[in-house]
Amino acid sequence: MSDERRKIMRVLSGETLTPPPVWLMRQAGRYLPEYRETRAKAGSFLDLCYSPEHAVEVTLQPIRRYGFDAAILFSDILVVPDALKRNVRFTEGHGPEMDPIDEAGILALKLDGVIAHLAPVMETVRRLRAELPAETTLLGFCGAPWTVATYMIAGHGTPDQAPARLFAYRYPEAFEHLLMLLADISAEYLVAQIDAGADAVQIFDSWAGVLGEREFEAFAAKPVARIIASVKAQRPNARIIAFAKGAGYQLKTYRQKTGADAIGLDWSVPLAFAQELQKEGPVQGNLDPMRVVAGGNALQSGIDDILGHLGDGPLIFNLGHGITPQADPANVAALVERVRGWRR
Ligand code: CP3
Repeated sequence: MSDERRKIMRVLSGETLTPPPVWLMRQAGRYLPEYRETRAKAGSFLDLCYSPEHAVEVTLQPIRRYGFDAAILFSDILVVPDALKRNVRFTEGHGPEMDPIDEAGILALKLDGVIAHLAPVMETVRRLRAELPAETTLLGFCGAPWTVATYMIAGHGTPDQAPARLFAYRYPEAFEHLLMLLADISAEYLVAQIDAGADAVQIFDSWAGVLGEREFEAFAAKPVARIIASVKAQRPNARIIAFAKGAGYQLKTYRQKTGADAIGLDWSVPLAFAQELQKEGPVQGNLDPMRVVAGGNALQSGIDDILGHLGDGPLIFNLGHGITPQADPANVAALVERVRGWRR
């Protein structure tokens, strides 16, 4: 059930709010000392994701500090391959790793038990909705099939996702099967998050920017459209933000192709182009996270530029990608103050 006080829900329905509501991707994370403390208590990173008690705590930390307009469920996009039994692990200094999958592995993937494995995440969502202030939007999320597939195929992060691109060219049928299977399980997962109390959900396609034109259509837009169509068929009032990082000019048709309510923008999207996209509906973004690290004038002028261009339409103020561990928490406070103080 949504609430009139939830500003992000109003923007997702097309309203323009002055000043715009604000939250930050990766707002719960290593730049906060209280996150590092809970993280150390939880054990491994996946233990943190699957412990409702600790996951609720780290989700609430940035809300207590800054009063953001949205809390984003603390979890990770890679809990889905973990639930698919890909042996996901996060080791210090290595980023995520899992067993790389091949053609035979893809054909052997089993969907039963996946949502049951993710039950602790839904428990986190239920507790969060009960504990959050009524005016705070609760966001659920999942990774887009392309981005999740890149990690499943390589078995780890890579700078350009060459292994997944190569696999897609060599084994088009198995790759299509993997994307569609991930789309179907992700839709089911998002519906479960919504039923547990998420007000809206975001689909993260962090690696959309490495795809050529046809591949963007087939590997990024199409599976995300399949997720959104399925979620909206099951829960017609669901609100969905789609973030295709690095998609550039492909964003021109992304909203229409996917059916997303709002489009996330990374910091490379020119603000004049963002204004065009905003004529068709709400946008979210797009401050360079390095401006939050730099602080001072770099931070203030970046914020003012975005608000000057996009403040008169439906906007959710955010970064163009996740906040980084080296960001100073005081700069985040300055960001929120600047956005909240904005008037045309
Ligand atoms: O606050 C929030 O935004 C919610 C939590 C969240 C995390 N990951 C926590 C996290 C969300 C929404 C994600 C999404 C995610 N995870 C994406 C898509 C968005 C993006 O950033 O591009 C991707 C690609 C992943 C996969 C992933 N998880 C990577 C590549 C890494 C390692 C890089 C890193 O920053 O360490 C993670 C780990 C991770 N996920 C951390 C956090 C807070 C850091 C792990 C730690 O605490 O040791």
